[in-house]
Amino acid sequence: MFRKSRALVGLDIGSSVVKAVELKAVGKGFRVTAFGTEPVPPDSIVDGAIIDAGAVAEAIRQIFEGNEAFTTKDVCASLSGSAVIVKKISLPVMTASELDESIYWEAEQYIPFEIHDVNLDYQILDAGTGPESSGTMDVLLVAVKKEKIGDYSGVIAMAGRTPVIVDVDAFALQNAYEVNYGLELGKSVVLLNVGASAINVNIVQGDQSVFTRDIPTGGNAYTEAIQKDLDLAFDAADALKRGVPIDGATFEEAQPVIRAVTESVLLEIQKTFDFFSAASLNQFDRIVLSGGASRIDGFKEMLEARFGVAVEEFDPFRTVTWDVKAMDVDPIEIGSSAAVAIGLALRRVGDR
Ligand SMILES: Nc1ncnc2c1ncn2[C@@H]1O[C@H](COP(=O)(O)OP(=O)(O)OP(=O)(O)O)[C@@H](O)[C@H]1O
Ligand SMILES: [Mg+2]
Repeated sequence: MFRKSRALVGLDIGSSVVKAVELKAVGKGFRVTAFGTEPVPPDSIVDGAIIDAGAVAEAIRQIFEGNEAFTTKDVCASLSGSAVIVKKISLPVMTASELDESIYWEAEQYIPFEIHDVNLDYQILDAGTGPESSGTMDVLLVAVKKEKIGDYSGVIAMAGRTPVIVDVDAFALQNAYEVNYGLELGKSVVLLNVGASAINVNIVQGDQSVFTRDIPTGGNAYTEAIQKDLDLAFDAADALKRGVPIDGATFEEAQPVIRAVTESVLLEIQKTFDFFSAASLNQFDRIVLSGGASRIDGFKEMLEARFGVAVEEFDPFRTVTWDVKAMDVDPIEIGSSAAVAIGLALRRVGDR
């Protein structure tokens, strides 16, 4: 009865880097007791689809090999992109059990996939039972393609781990945010996680996610543009993107390309914000930026200038502390790209 909830490893299988985190509850907060990262070979995961399962499984296996700090094989992983549909729907007010019975039938009209092909989850955002109720309730519907869950579970199993929960990147990000920044009632915060192949957007008001979307661009777009423009191999372009000089090209030569890609990325973000504002009249108070590619030279400044909103770097270690022994990488170096993994590690079996 007073069972301690079981620890899980948060496993963020990114298309460029796998990150794994194990946390321990200490007092009112959390401490990192194990942490590891491993690069994923380019093109092993494309648009969220696992192309080279062997390579991805090997990257996961490498993280745990010889790392005694991880105490469990159970992992919580996540998906994003086109395999995930998140929708806020309004339904007539009903009891929790009535909702549970009718949700598949209700969901059918909102999900662009065969209902038998998805795993469905939902959360009641507003039960509609308050004094201002209009007779409807708001429900957040999450549908994930079973095929994708199968693919991800497959590589995790191949790596000798046990997939226990499959979450969604954007929600893991929100979990990590809440634990580090607390709840700010009445504020709208845009969580923007810029990875290698996708930008996860989650607009959060208080403890509710009011809008999520994954934009299919990110750090890879920079590498590809630099490769093409300066006629370089992937590794050379990748180094240059990070400001590391290479043989035959200077960072200054890459800067105009980088700026041009940032412009096009900002345009995509603009479209997403426009869509959100059209759907809801609320505006947002600040942008909290994470992900490896958010470190692109000038990105934060250009984002700030474009939207006229304060942009803050997401610090996933703001309240989460760490054991030096647990880290095979420097948390400062990892920085905000650990956010999703931290959020996943916060999940517990049986959570909703
Ligand atoms: N200092 C840096 N400057 C510029 N880009 C960087 C820097 N560090 C990492 N990146 C880029 O960030 C990306 C990796 O970030 P992250 O780990 O958040 O992505 P991911 O989770 O693997 O990708 P995704 O979530 O899109 O599948 C890569 O494109 C990498 O080249
Ligand atoms: Mg990622």
